Amino acid sequence: MPGAVVVDLGSGTGVLGLLACQAGAKRVYSIEETSLIELARDICQANGFTDRIRFIKGLSTRVALPEPADVILADQIGHFGFEAGLFDYFSDARRRFLKPNGVTIPQRITFCIAPVEHGPLWQQVEFWNGSPAGLDVRPARALASNTGYPVKLLPEQLLGPSVEPFSVDPSTSGSQPLHFGCTLPITRTGTLHGLGCWFVAQLSPSVTMSNSPLSEQRVDRRNVFFPLDRPVSVQAGDAVIVTMQILPVQIAVTWKVEIRKNDRPDTERLRFTHSTLKGMLIAREDLQRTHPAFVPTLSPWGTARQTVLTLCDGTRPLAQIECELLHRHPDLFPSLSNAATFVAEVVTRYSV
Ligand SMILES: C[S@@+](CC[C@H](N)C(=O)[O-])C[C@H]1O[C@@H](n2cnc3c(N)ncnc32)[C@H](O)[C@@H]1O
Repeated sequence: MPGAVVVDLGSGTGVLGLLACQAGAKRVYSIEETSLIELARDICQANGFTDRIRFIKGLSTRVALPEPADVILADQIGHFGFEAGLFDYFSDARRRFLKPNGVTIPQRITFCIAPVEHGPLWQQVEFWNGSPAGLDVRPARALASNTGYPVKLLPEQLLGPSVEPFSVDPSTSGSQPLHFGCTLPITRTGTLHGLGCWFVAQLSPSVTMSNSPLSEQRVDRRNVFFPLDRPVSVQAGDAVIVTMQILPVQIAVTWKVEIRKNDRPDTERLRFTHSTLKGMLIAREDLQRTHPAFVPTLSPWGTARQTVLTLCDGTRPLAQIECELLHRHPDLFPSLSNAATFVAEVVTRYSV
């Protein structure tokens, strides 16, 4: 809308903010946490929008804006609609940045699921049941079958139509777990290897964006393949019953799948349960340190960080902090340049 105040959340190269300016935005707050913001500044200048775009380096949840916004836009959608942090960041941004009648873009995310035949991809999972170079790598098999695989699916790899079981406004649903279920009809004979998943993002009442393999205007973004533990032969008339749980903040998906055979409705039912929570690698040392009963003390490196933070008291220049760190922790830093690198990591993150 001409005259709008816009937040480009996770602006990357800043292209969405530039488009907002072209559409007449009065001001754009371009929030980007990485050094990509430098490139965005240069691109902004090259396009003559420096008077309208203000760059803020930081994580959106930790920055404040001087005025409320009419529009918040972001492409933090990922492959399946939630993995890039949209739900978490939009909930915070709606609460803290948006005018009461402001809008978010996208306004809604619809999750889409289809039954998929993809032998080569499933073989990547099965690889871990083999013995490459004579080694037993089977402990990795359970991780592999509890993982989502980014892949660009083709329409001919689908064993039936896609279903859209659930749609949600990411700015109001927050960190809530999402639960939904659906029945996927099988319409051709083949081998079911897993579920293909993608999104439809509602950008305005009349505009959607999708990475659907069934859409001629799909955006050039991969889908996600969630495998089954073993392939299942299916034929037209069979049905795949899916229940799914998504934890948007933890970026975790649980998929339960039951295959109902049309010709043998009672005798053959195949059930699978998978979760990316079982596909995560968490070292036992790290896990122990998250137990509520754990009593933490600082490691030598923690103490060094504490030293730097304490020295950032608003009286010392950086060079003095670097020398003092080297002096206090000679066992950790072999040279002044090592100490300087450590200090730089801390102050770029925690100082103003
Ligand atoms: C997928 S890119 C999108 C870039 C841009 N919107 C575009 O369309 O080209 C995501 C960018 O957002 C940044 N980012 C992600 N979440 C963020 C957040 N909550 N706050 C600030 N930057 C974020 C990442 O560093 C990355 O550069």
